[in-house]
Amino acid sequence: MPLVTIDDFQIEVPEGTTILNAARMIGGDLVPPAMCYYSSLKGSGGYCRTCLVKVEQGSAKDPRPMPKLVPSCRTTVMDGMVVRNETSPEVVEARAGVTEFLLVNHPLDCPVCDQAGECHLQDLGYEHGKLDTRSEFRRRTFEPIDIGEKVKLHMNRCILCYRCVKVCEQITDGRVHGVIGRGDHAEISTYIEKAIDNDFSGNVIDVCPVGALTDRTFRFKSRVWYTSLWMPTAIATNAAARCAYGTKARKSFG
Ligand code: SF4
Ligand code: FES
Repeated sequence: MPLVTIDDFQIEVPEGTTILNAARMIGGDLVPPAMCYYSSLKGSGGYCRTCLVKVEQGSAKDPRPMPKLVPSCRTTVMDGMVVRNETSPEVVEARAGVTEFLLVNHPLDCPVCDQAGECHLQDLGYEHGKLDTRSEFRRRTFEPIDIGEKVKLHMNRCILCYRCVKVCEQITDGRVHGVIGRGDHAEISTYIEKAIDNDFSGNVIDVCPVGALTDRTFRFKSRVWYTSLWMPTAIATNAAARCAYGTKARKSFG
């Protein structure tokens, strides 16, 4: 089994493990943040660049460092690899830059966003962001729209991580939404006159790391810190799916 060193901690991991998952096996502060990688979705990761790390030594056989920072969610460990995460000033600086880019178009509407309190971008901004913005340009803005009976899309907040797209691709029969346009014009959209309407539509909301997809039945009803997770409170009626998922219920006070 390959032996990898991450921020001076060593661990042996099964062949084919990525640097990110090896770091998660160790745990603690040396785990890189990950906005677009989702462990149970095939092919996720590689979009957001928040998980960049420095490979100081490629392997025991070839100890040369990798010339650029690499996405840890997409890079497989090699025996003898030496990786730096938080202990590399280069990584810390790059992550601050990535965070700044992710926030270029993201509104600072956390006080009214349902994802506040469990938003990965909020955590990333708090841990790696800057106190102010250097951008002089107007943010991209969109009106919130309904893209399903239960799903509200607030495109202003989307970071184009593709998680929701992969959920629909991998666990539903027919995907009706995706990313249209590229670069500055890229946006999440349903195909013309389609809506996300299947037994798993709630999962796209669940995997969204920010508040771009929210639950129309729960919007503005409560704050996440007033809720507690009940597992499982709902079992999918589709037995073949064997899907049990938690739901949030407002804690009662007094
Ligand atoms: S809507 Fe959410 S899950 Fe989908 S791409 Fe945007 S940020 Fe990612
Ligand atoms: S989590 Fe690795 S690139 Fe997004």
